Amino acid sequence: MRMLNIGKTDIKISVIGFGAWAIGGWMWGGAEQKQSLRAIDAALASGINLIDTAPAYGKGLSEKIVGKAIKNKRDQVVVATKCGLVWHVQKGTHFFDYPGGEKVHKYLGPESIRYEVEQSLSRMGIEYIDLYQTHWQDETTPIEETMDTLMNLKKEGKIRAIGASNATLAQLKQYQHAGQLDADQEKYSFIDTDIEKVLPWCRKNHVTMLAYSPLGQGLLTGKLSPEREFEGDDLRRGNPRFSVQNRKKTQEVLAKQVEPIAQKYDLTIAQLSVAALVSQEGVAALCGARNQSQAEENAKAGEVVIEKEDVQNIKSALGSLDL
Ligand SMILES: NC(=O)c1ccc[n+]([C@@H]2O[C@H](COP(=O)([O-])OP(=O)(O)OC[C@H]3O[C@@H](n4cnc5c(N)ncnc54)[C@H](OP(=O)(O)O)[C@@H]3O)[C@@H](O)[C@H]2O)c1
Repeated sequence: MRMLNIGKTDIKISVIGFGAWAIGGWMWGGAEQKQSLRAIDAALASGINLIDTAPAYGKGLSEKIVGKAIKNKRDQVVVATKCGLVWHVQKGTHFFDYPGGEKVHKYLGPESIRYEVEQSLSRMGIEYIDLYQTHWQDETTPIEETMDTLMNLKKEGKIRAIGASNATLAQLKQYQHAGQLDADQEKYSFIDTDIEKVLPWCRKNHVTMLAYSPLGQGLLTGKLSPEREFEGDDLRRGNPRFSVQNRKKTQEVLAKQVEPIAQKYDLTIAQLSVAALVSQEGVAALCGARNQSQAEENAKAGEVVIEKEDVQNIKSALGSLDL
């Protein structure tokens, strides 16, 4: 497994991380806990050391499962979680409601971050968080104030590195000006490339790009068939991006243009989609996985380097999809 340092820190992460959103069940049509625990075990056994979770993923459930999975293995794992999507106070900006009716706000006020960090530590049964990220940005709290709180938490040993997510370049610059920003977590795959405009700045400033939804939430695995029915609250259900027509179109491009390159490297389509992403400087990918076989398959994407010309060809092929 290839490794890289998070930002300017000495924390080494695998270029493939385990994304723990789906195992919280919420917005993924539910999840089965035993299978989730096996998925994390398999990821760790396959050389992944980074696990990305958040309080919002199943109202704390994902963090609790992560805590269970890493019990007795704490020193082998880099735990990344987040703050800033809150339902214990109604401050900041309203974002969405949970099915139970709790109102979730984007809020990063100092007292709230301090409350959230304690909640996350206790849910996971750990004493420090390796990477603490602001999940969504709060327009009502100055970034300087948020960063000040995070830098203090770092001094106190509660967190080891600081990241931002769903942030603009201007916001990233503000974070960096106010303290040490080590990671930026953004939606990034070759069907979601908007964030590439921020990449040169991240590289120049030693801010690691953590790509989220790197498999296009399943579309880039080559296994999301047009016949697949999405269950319950699965975010893909009724989402135009995942229409039968789009799935057909994607499968065709993957089979014709991506599969031949995958064969050259002896990889599956899912592995190549992610391997190409993380073959670029300063990029790691957080791959969501619901079971052991997905976790094992995804981990292998971190063991190869894809040649620049092939990366470019995959990018052009997937870019042509216009999803
Ligand atoms: N900061 C943020 O706002 C934010 C937002 C989104 C995600 N994230 C982070 O990024 C992580 C990953 O993103 P994501 O979960 O949205 O999308 P993703 O990693 O692109 O896709 C994950 C989904 O693809 C399917 N899949 C994964 N590996 C597979 C394989 N090898 N073969 C076939 N299917 C496979 C699974 O769904 P099925 O089996 O049901 O098809 C899985 O739940 C999250 O877990 C989270 O940690 C962060």
